[in-house]
Amino acid sequence: MKKTLKDMDFKGKKVLVRVDFNVPLKDGKVTDTTRIKAALPTIEYLIREEAKVLLISHLGRPGGEVKEDLRMDPAAKELANLLNKEVKKADDSIGEDVKNAADNLKNGEVLLLENSRFHAGEKANDPEYAKALASLADLYVNDAFGAAHRAHATTVGVTEYLPSAAGFLMQKELNALGEVMENPERPFVAIMGGAKVSDKIDVIKNLIKKVDYLIVGGGIANTFLLAKGYEVGDSLVEEDKVELAKELMEEAEKIGVDIVIPEDVVIADDFAEDAESRIVKSDQIPAGWQALDSGGTESLKKYKEIIKNAKTVIWNGPLGVFEMEKFAHGTIELAKALAESDAHSVIGGGDSAAAINIAGVADKMSHISTGGGASLMFFEGKELPGVAALDDVE
Ligand code: 3PG
Repeated sequence: MKKTLKDMDFKGKKVLVRVDFNVPLKDGKVTDTTRIKAALPTIEYLIREEAKVLLISHLGRPGGEVKEDLRMDPAAKELANLLNKEVKKADDSIGEDVKNAADNLKNGEVLLLENSRFHAGEKANDPEYAKALASLADLYVNDAFGAAHRAHATTVGVTEYLPSAAGFLMQKELNALGEVMENPERPFVAIMGGAKVSDKIDVIKNLIKKVDYLIVGGGIANTFLLAKGYEVGDSLVEEDKVELAKELMEEAEKIGVDIVIPEDVVIADDFAEDAESRIVKSDQIPAGWQALDSGGTESLKKYKEIIKNAKTVIWNGPLGVFEMEKFAHGTIELAKALAESDAHSVIGGGDSAAAINIAGVADKMSHISTGGGASLMFFEGKELPGVAALDDVE
């Protein structure tokens, strides 16, 4: 069991809190505040406990150098609005000026440090960068579930030098995802979509040992169709994963798990919004055409029936190229079907969470994770480095 906020005394202490404020920006403004809102319970608790709160996050992938458009200022502004309180902002995450700013904080004040990935030492988990960060604070809290699959200085390195604990969001995510993986009410259905099989191999391998149905959609379905011996035209496939897809289907059949591949798909004559498109049986994709949405009429009928009878559903990855309206139908219909079902529904972050929002059914889901890659790693059955590094309860 990892230490949590309740295991620490924060009064008057400088607390370095790793949050995941890796939020989408447009014209210098945060366009989706979900991740900032999700961190509020921890931040507000620390303020109430009279801690001096130092927040740290990465934003985007600046590659170890300062990128003006990836500064944390928009996030600081948004946080100040949400907290209805001043949020100070530092122009770096380490160094003399930051140390002074941290030392000058009064109890209950909040300082957001600059993007950790402006330093190459963050991704390299460099002990020097981790030490410099740790020297700013007395205690460390990790509330960045979305970054817990990264073994970086702010998620792992810093725990070498400070007493550490999990924040409320981290705890909530681990409980929600842990519950479905350990004790799912059955039938238990997993829906795996997205573009590439290679990203999902480990998760599919782990899930077929646990679920009753595994619905395979999106680009990854094409490789399974090819493995069935179907022609897939110009659809995105990973030829080198065809054998593996075959093995996975055989393995699933042996243990009585149903891998559900699409019966019909939406095909297009170009990877473009204005392409010509139609629905065909999935073994009849003509040459020169590509499947861009695995939610054809028959496929959706089947998915809906499975979901209707399910007691637990986990979902990671869209069924099609849902950024293009023309190929979003399957993904949106799936989101709606989930909203209508009584199943306990857990949504991996990233694209699936975005699709749930587009469908306007976020409030109907049991849990929407703030972590895309992190929830995937969790569903793979692996321990997240950012969690493993935290102190255990004695
Ligand atoms: C995410 O958005 O999934 C996390 O913040 C991790 O970001 P990364 O993939 O750039 O490490």
